[in-house]
Amino acid sequence: MERMKAAVCTRYGPPEVFKIVERGVPVPKDDEVLIKIFAASVTNSDIFIRSSDVPLRLRIPMRIMMGITRPRNDILGEVLSGEIVKVGPGIKRFHVGDQVFGLTGFSLGAYADYKCMKEAASRKGCIALKPSNISHGDATSAAYGGLLAFQFLEEGHIQPREKVLIYGASGTSGTIAVQYAKHLGAEVTGVCSAEKIDLVRSLGADKILDYNDRDSISRLEAYDFVLDSVGKARTSELKKACKALMTGKHKFVSIDDGPLILSYDRLVHIRELVEAGIIKPITDRCFPLEQIIEAHRYVERGHKSGNVAIIVN
Ligand SMILES: NC(=O)c1ccc[n+]([C@@H]2O[C@H](COP(=O)([O-])OP(=O)(O)OC[C@H]3O[C@@H](n4cnc5c(N)ncnc54)[C@H](OP(=O)(O)O)[C@@H]3O)[C@@H](O)[C@H]2O)c1
Repeated sequence: MERMKAAVCTRYGPPEVFKIVERGVPVPKDDEVLIKIFAASVTNSDIFIRSSDVPLRLRIPMRIMMGITRPRNDILGEVLSGEIVKVGPGIKRFHVGDQVFGLTGFSLGAYADYKCMKEAASRKGCIALKPSNISHGDATSAAYGGLLAFQFLEEGHIQPREKVLIYGASGTSGTIAVQYAKHLGAEVTGVCSAEKIDLVRSLGADKILDYNDRDSISRLEAYDFVLDSVGKARTSELKKACKALMTGKHKFVSIDDGPLILSYDRLVHIRELVEAGIIKPITDRCFPLEQIIEAHRYVERGHKSGNVAIIVN
């Protein structure tokens, strides 16, 4: 049996629970492709699964679902970019040699050299041809940030010249949300900390508010649509004030309002806009797979700009 390297989560806990081990290379079923992974990503979801840091009342149901002492799928990683090296006989859409990017959904498994995936999107993942003009690391940012930002921004049915505020404009989804909202013709206000203002301006935001600056609250306007792209766990006085302003037909949507849809069509749309130079995914840092512990420690601090990629091959 061919062997591969993988970072496994040996138990729930701090980043140090990861161990690099050897496993057998998975064999694709008739309706699967085998992907050689070049890059993965460290997301908040990976950290959530690894740490199992949930309120006590949720811990037992979560562990029944995910695994009692460690995740049942012990190779974490829900974002990948790589190349198809084998295809099952039932595969129609992809060929050996295709470069693909996407999410692994509930099946996880991106912190490894290889991963089998179905070609049709499901809760176990979705893949599409990768944008040809960016690296595999950047492609993980485009896949994860793009799917989140596009899905939740599309709920706003944004029209040209509408006022849109992106809260958390410096994260993986926020950096893409600013660019996509501009593409849709909106006047975009990005909210970030003082350190990230230059980044958010470079993405095309028309106005920027610092969420740590109390004066920013008085500069809030009436927005047609607000996307909270950092999620419900992170807040500020500015976010609370902004939410309070959103009444009537104005819509405040959190990126945590409903599950992320793993959509092939949306990945294709993301690829088209990346290849057209309209969306530029942002990568903060890349770590080799062997430094998965350092990568998790870094992301866990909560201050990355855009995405953190894991270079696997
Ligand atoms: N609906 C779903 O199924 C689903 C699936 C996956 C993820 N999510 C949600 O999506 C969220 C966003 O993920 P992401 O990876 O795009 O974000 P992220 O990259 O982790 O966001 C990091 C950015 O947030 C900024 N930040 C930190 N605290 C903040 C605060 N209180 N107010 C404003 N900005 C703050 C940080 O900048 P500074 O440190 O400079 O402030 C940093 O640049 C996740 O946390 C999760 O809640 C939802």
